[in-house]
Amino acid sequence: MSERSGGGPLLQVNDLQVWFPIHGSGVLRRVTGHVRAVDGVDFDVRRGETLGLVGESGCGKSTTGLALLRLVAPTGGSIVFDGDEVTELSKSDLRGLRRKMAMIFQDPMASLNPRRTIGESVAEPLEIHGLHEGKEARRRRIGDLLEMVGLSPDYRDRYPHEFSGGQLQRVGIARALAGEPEFIVADEPIASLDVSIQAQVMNLMRHLQEELDLTYLFIAHDLSAIYHVSDRIAVMYLGRIVETADRDALVEDPKHPYTEALLSAVPLPDPGKERQRERILLGGEIPSPSNPPSGCNFRTRCPEVFEPCDTVDPDLQEVGDHLAACHLHGVVGEEVEPSAHRNRGHGPEDRDAVATGPAPGGRGG
Ligand SMILES: Nc1ncnc2c1ncn2[C@@H]1O[C@H](COP(=O)(O)OP(=O)(O)OP(=O)(O)O)[C@@H](O)[C@H]1O
Ligand SMILES: [Mg+2]
Repeated sequence: MSERSGGGPLLQVNDLQVWFPIHGSGVLRRVTGHVRAVDGVDFDVRRGETLGLVGESGCGKSTTGLALLRLVAPTGGSIVFDGDEVTELSKSDLRGLRRKMAMIFQDPMASLNPRRTIGESVAEPLEIHGLHEGKEARRRRIGDLLEMVGLSPDYRDRYPHEFSGGQLQRVGIARALAGEPEFIVADEPIASLDVSIQAQVMNLMRHLQEELDLTYLFIAHDLSAIYHVSDRIAVMYLGRIVETADRDALVEDPKHPYTEALLSAVPLPDPGKERQRERILLGGEIPSPSNPPSGCNFRTRCPEVFEPCDTVDPDLQEVGDHLAACHLHGVVGEEVEPSAHRNRGHGPEDRDAVATGPAPGGRGG
């Protein structure tokens, strides 16, 4: 969505892992396993672009976003932001990082303290970073920030309950802008808003991006929303990125069966085409991130699954101008122990057996 999207990477993420320990019920609460919320994620974000991160509920999108700001601790891997290794920053350096990187949250009501005025909430980053010191300067800056997001400076003395959801999300954006960040992680920023308000908030974000040279990681579970805001799209499944490409290439010629399935659930604007088209129905449940399948983690639901998928964990590899982690494009990856339970399986020779039909859609959650 921005003109500057041809720049070099501002952020490079390599093999990022975030595992949450599962504790047993005994007195010692021993660690009995891990939720592998993020399990080997690779992507980069170029200066000035919007990278969309899309995937079903629970696939690890928010955890990825939080890890970039070290709001959750990475278990492994590397996050290089503007030349700095984020995973190695000291506490004081982290403060600097969180000035350059900010986050917009899904639920603006939950992300603002109900007992603080809007002005106090927007001022918080100014206090943390020692910006615009002095009562008058700070009051002016808060007013400017509110104006930037289309709100009256007079709102600064009001409380969150006096605002609508759309106005509160504007406050959330003002707060994210307070430290003059270069990069914003927007985690489902419009999902909780009325449809009529969503476009306004999207337009505001687009306008601010151009005005302030911002780079966005835009997280959503809805591929059509992601398509409209992104320059490039990364598709996530069960803690992994399975495909990355420019947005048009991704929707016109998807290289990963999961991307294909997500796309087939997006309604087409033409009702005639919509009736005729085939839908790809994914069978089975999303596996638990505490016990992911061996080999390719999509294999238990993949309509194209074949021989190497059980045992070889596919790397993200170049497929034309996409990156895709799928053996259909040549087997490249790490060999692993085959799992005892092979869930379903029909080889590529059985492609016709893939479940297709007039499904109600609504994949992704
Ligand atoms: N603090 C935590 N402790 C334990 N497990 C967690 C924690 N945070 C997230 N998880 C688990 O990690 C996985 C990924 O969660 P995450 O919130 O990142 O997914 P998501 O893609 O953002 O989903 P959604 O679309 O619903 O927001 C889920 O299984 C979730 O239950
Ligand atoms: Mg989330």
